[in-house]
Amino acid sequence: KHNRKPFVGGNFKMNGSKTMLKEIIDRLNALKCDDHVEVVIAPPTLFLDLAHRSVREGISIAAQNAFNCSKGAYTGEVSPEQLKDLGIDWVILGHSERREIFKESDEFVASKVAHALNVDMKVIACIGEKLEERESEKTEEVVIRQLKSISEKVNNWRNVVIAYEPVWAIGTGKVATPQQAQEVHLIIRNWLAKNVSQQVAQDTRIIYGGSVNDKNSSELAKQPDVDGFLVGGASLTEKFITIISCFV
Ligand code: G3P
Repeated sequence: KHNRKPFVGGNFKMNGSKTMLKEIIDRLNALKCDDHVEVVIAPPTLFLDLAHRSVREGISIAAQNAFNCSKGAYTGEVSPEQLKDLGIDWVILGHSERREIFKESDEFVASKVAHALNVDMKVIACIGEKLEERESEKTEEVVIRQLKSISEKVNNWRNVVIAYEPVWAIGTGKVATPQQAQEVHLIIRNWLAKNVSQQVAQDTRIIYGGSVNDKNSSELAKQPDVDGFLVGGASLTEKFITIISCFV
């Protein structure tokens, strides 16, 4: 896998409490894995500061979303500058739940990626096709459309991780097979090689998300272009430790 350091993110979505967060962080703080894998957790916004203050050095925190400007009359929104002020390094953008439920367009996601990168945040940029798109053989078209729109805003690829999350696999227990994941990851990497650069294609981590658990993670992790995971449900449980340990 060249020199790409595996990356495992935990996206808690709108789950958890202070008590649950402490349990998760206690388990992570006890795990020695930093030489082998980069671990980032994304708790709900209101727990970001607590999480940031509770994790040991070596574990990073991500916000699950951020707006596309620095301040102003945007009730309920959070800016990348404010996240930076808190000491948060990462933000997840373009998650399919944001795209679907909150109607975020490719353009809007791209503008948020641009703003976050401009203030030096690192971005986990999510892309992925819906079931009907896969069934009508539009997977490549959709994934590349989303990737292209994001990539036009990227100035520094070192600060970007791409998360391939097929929508049909998210929260459904229906995981992509290792072959299905590898196939799309390779399409993404080849696109980067052709349209950005060989170096960026080689260095950028492309992680898989969608019903990753302690049973399916090690086979997925063996795929040459799967550089880690974005874990939803299982990141709230002790299974997260087993998943991270695939790379240790
Ligand atoms: O961002 C992670 C995600 O959408 C996958 O969720 O619960 O299927 O692991 P889950």
